This record gives sequence, C-alpha cells and structure tokens, in this order.
Amino acid sequence: MSAGSESQHRRVIWHTEAPDVLDLIAPERQKLAGELATWLELLHEPASVLICSRLEPPVVHRSEPVVTSPSADLERSLIEHLTVDSRERQRFRRQVFVTLSAESSESGLSTTAAGWFTGASSPPALAEGPWREHPNDLQAGGRFLTSLWLERLPGVEVAPGWLWSLIGIPAEFDLVLNFRPRSAAHSDRSLRRRMLGLRAQELAADQRGEGGDPRVQAAMDSAVRLRQVLARSEGRLFDLALTMTLAADTPAELRRLAAVARSRGMALRAALAPAWCTQGPARLQTALLSEQPVGPRRIVHTAELATFWPWLDDWSGKIEGAAHLGRHLRTGAPVWLNLRDATALPNANLGVVAASGSGKSYLGGLIGLEAVRLGVRTVVLDPENEHRRWCEAVGGRYLSLGESVASGFNLLEMAEPGEAPSAVVELLSLLCGQLSPSESGQVADAVRGTLTEAGVGTAVLSDCLPRLRQTEAGEAVAHRLLPWLEGTPGALFNCPGRGPTVTTAVAVGLRELPAGWVPAATLLVSHWLWSWIRSSQGPKQAIVDEAGLLADNAPLQRLMAHLARRIRKYQGSLVLLTQSAGDLLGSAPGEVMAVNSAAMLLGSQHPAAAVRLQQGFLLDDSQRQWLERAGRGQFLLLYGPRRSPIQIEAPARYHALLTVEEPLGFGRPGESGS
Ligand SMILES: Nc1ncnc2c1ncn2[C@@H]1O[C@H](COP(=O)(O)OP(=O)(O)OP(=O)(O)O)[C@@H](O)[C@H]1O
Ligand SMILES: [Mg+2]
Repeated sequence: MSAGSESQHRRVIWHTEAPDVLDLIAPERQKLAGELATWLELLHEPASVLICSRLEPPVVHRSEPVVTSPSADLERSLIEHLTVDSRERQRFRRQVFVTLSAESSESGLSTTAAGWFTGASSPPALAEGPWREHPNDLQAGGRFLTSLWLERLPGVEVAPGWLWSLIGIPAEFDLVLNFRPRSAAHSDRSLRRRMLGLRAQELAADQRGEGGDPRVQAAMDSAVRLRQVLARSEGRLFDLALTMTLAADTPAELRRLAAVARSRGMALRAALAPAWCTQGPARLQTALLSEQPVGPRRIVHTAELATFWPWLDDWSGKIEGAAHLGRHLRTGAPVWLNLRDATALPNANLGVVAASGSGKSYLGGLIGLEAVRLGVRTVVLDPENEHRRWCEAVGGRYLSLGESVASGFNLLEMAEPGEAPSAVVELLSLLCGQLSPSESGQVADAVRGTLTEAGVGTAVLSDCLPRLRQTEAGEAVAHRLLPWLEGTPGALFNCPGRGPTVTTAVAVGLRELPAGWVPAATLLVSHWLWSWIRSSQGPKQAIVDEAGLLADNAPLQRLMAHLARRIRKYQGSLVLLTQSAGDLLGSAPGEVMAVNSAAMLLGSQHPAAAVRLQQGFLLDDSQRQWLERAGRGQFLLLYGPRRSPIQIEAPARYHALLTVEEPLGFGRPGESGS
C-alpha cells in the first residue's frame, strides 16, 4: 500500500472498511469490538477517525439499444426503479477514514487490522472554497456549516453501534473522533488529582450543609472506574474528543439538523454543545486540518473507546449477477443477493420463513423474475397456484396439474437408467396402496421387460399391463392400477413425455390436484426436476413455495434433501419458502432447509415462533422483537454472521406482474427470450 494524502504534519489518511456491527450476531459484534480494542492498545500516537456522510449521487441511466426480450424488459424496469428511487429517496453513504502519524502507518498499524485499511485516500469535501465565520456557523461555497462538540459521554450503558444515533442522521456531515493515548503513570497521576479535587468539592458541599451533587458523584464514579481499569491492566486510557460538522443549504435547515443531533445525544443522556464562537477551529478539526486539537476532551478506557465503532454502513452497490431484493431498512442501501457466489456463501440455498400474508410468494415471484432477468432458468413448485401470472408474462410455461396438461411426466422415460423399476414400484404404491414384496417384484419385472422390449422407443405404464397380468399377484396390481391409466388421471400418469422443457421459467401448480393424487404427482415432478437439474447446462434455480404444505410428502422431502445438498454442483440454486418456524426447525425438510441454507430470510413471526428462530439462528432480543413487529415485505436477511433488516421492493413492472389480476405479457405471445 502506498501512502497517499499526507499533510505537513506527516499524517496519512487511510480509507477503511469494516463490517457494520449493527447487522451482526452478538458474538461477532463482541469479537470485532475486541479486535478494535487490540488495535487501539497498539497505538502510541494521536490518531483520528473521520466519518463522512455524503448524499449518494443519483444513479445515471445509460440508454441501451432497445432489445425486446423478457430479460431486457426486466433489466430496463430495474434500472428505471433504481434511477427514480435514488432521485426521490435521499440516500447517504457513510465512509470512514483513519488518520495515523506517518510513523504509526509505517510501523504496520495500518496492516495490523488487515482488511480494514483499504488504501491511502482523501476524504470527500463537505463544502468547497473559502469560508466566512459567524459565532454559530460558517458559510462556505454557498453552504452553511455548523459544528458541535461532545461535552458529556453517554450516560446510559452503550454497546458498539451506538454511534449510529449520530451518524444515522440523514444529512451531510463530517464527524471526527480525535484520540490520544495517555501513559499509565500520567493517567494515574491526573486521575488521583481529579479525585482529590472532587473529594474536596464534596467536603465543601457537606460543610455548607448541601446535599451531594449528582454530577460530582458521577465524575467520581467515572474516575474510580478508570483507575480500576489501570490497576487491573484492563486497558489503557485515552483523551477523546468528538466533533461533528453538519452542512445544509439554508440556515434554517442547518438549525434543524443541529437540533436533531443534540436531541439524539440527549436520548443517550450525552451532551452535544454548539462550538460557540469557535466554528473555525472546530471545522478545521473535522476537516483533519487542525494542528492543535480543540474542544472538550473526555477520558475513556480502551473498551469504552471501542464502543465508538464507526463502520455502520457497509454500502454495496454491486449488481453484476446478483438479484435485487430491495433496500436496507436502516441505511437505505440497495440489497443484492447472489446465491451462486461460491466465495461468499457455502451453498446456493435460500430459506424463507414468514407467517401467512407477510409476502413470501411475492418474494418468491420477485426472485423468479430476477432469475429471468439474469438469464437463469427457473422452475417453481407452486402448491397454491400463485405464480402463473409472472411466469407466463415472461414467456414461461405454467402447468396446473389436475387440469389438462400438455406435457407428460412419464416415469419410464424420466427415471435414471436402472432406477425406473424401483421408481415405478414407488409410484404404484402411492397410487394403488402399499404393495406386498411379491407384488413389488412383479411390477419391477414387468417394467424391466417392457423397457427392454421398447428399446429406444417409448413405453408408458399401460404398456406394462400385459406382463403384469401374467401372474396372479401382478393381475391384482393391474386391477388397482387401471383407473389411473385413463381419463384425467391417465393424462398425468400414463402419458409419454419427459416433462416440460424450461426455456425461461416453468411453474407447476398443484392446487387443482385432488388431495389423493398429490404424493404421486409430486413424485413425478420430483423426478423431472432432478433430471432437469442434472442434465441441463447453464445456471438454474428451483423455487418451492409453501414447502411446509408438502412437508409430509416423502418424494418431495427426498427431492428437497437432494437438491439442498447437491444443486450447486449443477450450477443451480434452491429457494424454499415456508410459513412456520415449526416447519423449519421441527420437521425433516425444515431441518434440511435450516442446516443447508447459506442464506435465510425471516419475516413476520408470532412471538412463540420468533423465540424458536431466535434460538435457532443466534438472534439477539432486539432482532427477535423486530421479527415480531415486521410488516409485510420486511425480512431479516441472514447470511454468515449477518442479520440485516430489509424491505422487499420490486420495480414497478415486476410489482404489476406480481399483483395485478389480468395477465400482462411482454411483447407478443411466443416472443419468449433468453
Ligand atoms: N414487498 C411487497 N410490496 C408490496 N406488496 C406486497 C409485498 N409483499 C407482499 N405484498 C402483497 O401482500 C399480499 C400478501 O403477500 P403474499 O401472498 O406474498 O404473502 P404470503 O406470505 O405468501 O402469504 P400466504 O402464506 O398466505 O401464502 C399480496 O397481495 C402481495 O401482493
Ligand atoms: Mg404464499
């Protein structure tokens, strides 16, 4: 790394990035705060941390040649959504810079915290040009700036992440933390002096017959605590100053922002005071230009300083290959998820759990449409027939099983070579009731014989009947099988075909199936889906909506377990959506989902279910309470140690396809793309 912007005081300004602790599980938050504390312990010179909040410039829409395909139409709709959204909703990006002396930088302090220091850099300007100073503000480059100091540290117990109260203010500002390590001997001497002074004040108040002053008592408690830290070698002491310079286009807006900052401080029983008549020096400080730090200083120990964790907005503008899900509810940043990113996720599975009506199917449809946009072919298992509209609109096919279906799902063609006899035995036991061992043997023999005779030709179930009828046991099975081979059931169970071809998307609706047919029909669909996953080239995705409804369906359970463990091998990803935490943590497919999903989206939950999820997914109490209050379309995105609250937001075109009743096609029918 090369040293970039260096001031005359031989300081180096580093651009840094680190995880947003507010989006992490509690143990990870503690671990990172511990790492920051360790880094602070290594510091021997003054240093500063600067948080720059700047309005994100609107996304600029590049005009692309007009191509009409479902995927190009979706891409246009997404870009338009991002463009309009960035214009209408102000988004602030908070970047963090660390200033170290050149000696500290060279001594390796910038590489100790590997990964945090991304390179030497210059912070973006808050206002350009010379300034005019007034007691309460500065005027610079047509903008108004005002600075505040931290006069009193938070009076409530705070944890890493508390700084969001200040840096979450939707405004442009520079907030700087200046800290200087103190030597133990010097710290101890000054603390002792301070305690003597405080004790003298207490005695004087006693002699005047006045009661104890709570502020003196609090200062005494703090001094005692700091001396204990030193005595027990639990850390070092630092002088700390926090200065914030807010910017606005009008004085009235500036006053409003300053009032917001002060009231947010007050909510934590901290005090932010205006830098009255010292606006110039305060601004020099937040611009990293001051020679001598100014403003109130407070003494803090290492662990206290580590709670000032400044990285609370790890913005990601990455879009390539990822599905756009919506926006981060706290920071407003767009949220993208790429299930196929093998470097970030250990597998390609996403589990979605949310109570009824909270937006699972909408989310499932959005993920399906995003797959179409990205050229990823998608199959949806749809127990409630909710995915027809969007699927057909993008040139996909919708097969509502139980109604007349154009594609046959013929097990004798779809099953792996050698597996057909046992697959047909399983199908017949679902259709005709449990088969005895001798009946199973007869069926398997009949299938083998029929397939050999058919050679490269196609055989269906009814072709097995003559062979089956040659024995008494076989005749009994054939008799039970007959009703399934004609009419509507025959169209499903006795028709040639290897299932539908997937060009963009195929959704298979199960709602119109009579309940008794569902296990056998899903067995056929499972064989088709599994053989499609294994045999087709290119990226692909399977979505199972209402997976809980199919939880007691053995063929589907097996399929989900297979897919969850092996789909990535075939460039695939799996999305399972279900209603209750019970489905997830108390049942076999649920366990498959919980254990094998690298990413999860947890939506609105009843309190009892939220408690189960809290235990299962290491949520803290505030994350659990968030789930209990989550509204429609609000989910907690879990991956690795992350727990990010997000709002699912679909571009207008997507939204219309996911909600409007009448079919909405792209272009003319048959113009299916990608
Ligand atoms: N993010 C969202 N933005 C706008 N509307 C949404 C969003 N999510 C869901 N909706 C709307 O809310 C309603 C319920 O959503 P959806 O059917 O997806 O819920 P669900 O969780 O699948 O419910 P169920 O468990 O009953 O199937 C639908 O009308 C849907 O269009
Ligand atoms: Mg649903």
